[in-house]
Amino acid sequence: MARQSKASCIGILTSGGDCPGLNAAIRGVAKAAIANYGMQVLGILDGFNGLVENRVIHLTDRELVGLLTLGGTILGTSRNKPHKMPQPDGTTRDMTGAAMETYRRLNLDCLVCIGGGGTAKNALMLKNQGLNVITLPKTIDNDVWGTDVTFGYDSAMSIATEAIDRLHTTASSHQRTILVDVMGHNAGWLALGASLAAGADVCLIPEIPFRFERVAEAIEERRQKGRRFSLVTVAEGARPAVPAGKKTDTPPEPVNSVQLAAQIEKALRTETRVTTLGYIQRGGTPSPTDRVLATQLGVAAADLIAEGTYGVMVAVRNGKMVPVPLEEVAGKKKTIELDHPLIQTARRIGLCLGD
Ligand code: F6P
Repeated sequence: MARQSKASCIGILTSGGDCPGLNAAIRGVAKAAIANYGMQVLGILDGFNGLVENRVIHLTDRELVGLLTLGGTILGTSRNKPHKMPQPDGTTRDMTGAAMETYRRLNLDCLVCIGGGGTAKNALMLKNQGLNVITLPKTIDNDVWGTDVTFGYDSAMSIATEAIDRLHTTASSHQRTILVDVMGHNAGWLALGASLAAGADVCLIPEIPFRFERVAEAIEERRQKGRRFSLVTVAEGARPAVPAGKKTDTPPEPVNSVQLAAQIEKALRTETRVTTLGYIQRGGTPSPTDRVLATQLGVAAADLIAEGTYGVMVAVRNGKMVPVPLEEVAGKKKTIELDHPLIQTARRIGLCLGD
């Protein structure tokens, strides 16, 4: 028998960059909502686009088969925001009214928005217009404020780790320094996690501006010890430090790995190569950890909706799924604190962070 629920019909959308685990989360929400509460579940297509354009599918048990292990999102995603929808003539338009109309026309009691920080911001705007919303934190960047971890991160870290492992053997065979570009936006979680897991020698992250001399020294020190190859991971947002004595209002541009490789090659007379991991980090089947996390978050969302708790993100804190008000999450980013245990661990094992 279905449990008591304050909601009878919900919509789910996925928004922002995709990541492994999105389908597992959709499945978690929908399974729990249907089986435990007898809710009707609708899938909104292509992020907020589908909400504005009223493009919707029914999610029944049949549509949920095979989703747990499937990469990407069966609903499609986009980075578009209801209040800034791109128009055919290249301009953007506030389509919040159309989004609200679809919500009402579908008789939704709550809209589940699965996404990162940007999605939380958009969901908060809809909440402020009077809609019931709940968000789930996903992203390979792990930079969503208010949660210990996001799903997608563990899978991406495994992919990046495997890639660096493979680069290790070829770097060693050819006695080369290989630079590996890792995603992560303005946070170094992915680069640092994979560097620790794969035993990289240098890891440059946005949180710690680097000095070229330190990077060169670290590679040279290894050479002195007879290790004629090195692995340098470069997070997407890593930047050089402002040279001592130079005053500037604008921070330096993010580092370009190809230029950095050329600099290393010239300074150390070592052969270098650059590998960009790119979208491989976001594709494919989720790791077991992400499958479980996405499912837990999804089930917790269904329970919160049933009890009428809205306007929150479901976060993981010390292994528990807890609601956090969207006002606390939106507009913030969780970067790595400089005294974070991962940074301390990196320093203790001699992983050069470029400072
Ligand atoms: O947020 C995930 C992410 O892959 C970031 O690491 C990266 O900065 C960005 O998305 C890439 O965005 P897009 O998919 O729009 O190219």
